[in-house]
Amino acid sequence: MNYDSSYFDKVLDRRHTNSIKWDKYGERDVLPLWVADMDFPIADEIRNAMLERLEHPVMGYTHASENLFCGLRLHLKEEFCWNIEKEWIIWIPGVVAGLAACVRAYARQGSEIITNPPIYHHFFQVHDQARHKLVEVPLRVEGKRWTYDIEAMRKAVNENTSLIMLCSPHNPTGTVFTPAELREICAIADSVGAVVASDEIHCGLVLNGATPHKPTALAAANSESVVTLMSASKTFNLAGVNCSYGIIANPELRQKFQAACAEVIPPVSTLSYTAAEAAFASGRPWRQGLLDYLRGNYAYLVEEFAKIDGMELQSLDATYLAWIDASKLGLNDTSGFFESHGLGFSSGEQFRQPQHLRLNFACPRSTLELAISRVHAALATLA
Ligand SMILES: Cc1ncc(COP(=O)(O)O)c(C=O)c1O
Repeated sequence: MNYDSSYFDKVLDRRHTNSIKWDKYGERDVLPLWVADMDFPIADEIRNAMLERLEHPVMGYTHASENLFCGLRLHLKEEFCWNIEKEWIIWIPGVVAGLAACVRAYARQGSEIITNPPIYHHFFQVHDQARHKLVEVPLRVEGKRWTYDIEAMRKAVNENTSLIMLCSPHNPTGTVFTPAELREICAIADSVGAVVASDEIHCGLVLNGATPHKPTALAAANSESVVTLMSASKTFNLAGVNCSYGIIANPELRQKFQAACAEVIPPVSTLSYTAAEAAFASGRPWRQGLLDYLRGNYAYLVEEFAKIDGMELQSLDATYLAWIDASKLGLNDTSGFFESHGLGFSSGEQFRQPQHLRLNFACPRSTLELAISRVHAALATLA
């Protein structure tokens, strides 16, 4: 199969597939550029593997195959020079479920959990406000890059801090944190005996070759306090198919995580395992084509937003989620304004930055061209 740009250029009608992204606006002519799934077809190799599995008419509870483990181990070794042991892996149906399991497993009653806005909204939601205090230590902008405020993090931790929840690469800012930054955060966690839960769901989507992703557990001086959460879902457009995994080297942390999962999290589904196995075994050509296409889309956005006053496209190393500072427009309801002009961005409000917008650019270029023309039309009404 040839996964060149013409493959990703194809516009597929996703309406009538019960797509959350496409059904949000009903019959209204609003381009959905919000939730993080792609408008691209999955790799043929994955689709065929799922079809083949369906040849057997019984589904049933399923465990991960040896092939899946071998494919994942090879993938992590090739991508990040990370050698993992089989028993470190815990398969879970989703990364958000994994974050919730971390809270359940490691955040004792009355303790503090730290996270760093702007951040993916589930980081604010997975804890229980009655049992824990969420401490928000905002990221700061250094040059054109969003990063940790290390001093503020040092001040924020105390002996009551049980968990630090990271997102690396970062949604919504697109930052790939450096090993030094990650090491620093882990050292801060270690200084008070806190666990680091590192959501690395976007690690397969690094667009800037100069900033390779480093798993937090590898960057840390002490990997024993790090829980890594990853998934094939973002990289291979398997969002909704739900096959994710925790990687936990420390047996005690692993046992607590497993116990928390067993209480509330269902097993991974049969077809999800099949999809993930095919993704790691033979998804590479599709992913290469995807990354090339996303780089082209991002370059297009950089060029176009440079011509637009009042909206600043923030620089991005990874993800297909562009973070746009629209504060100079001075609007009361930034996302509502654009929605009324046919543009369904994610509102920055859900990440704690109401005057920002997040634009999902994992779509055919023609969709982005239409989006840009609508941005111009919308802004013309403000003149
Ligand atoms: C940082 C981050 N974590 C988790 C998720 C969702 O993961 P899952 O569907 O596996 O629960 C997303 C989806 O956008 C995300 O951006």
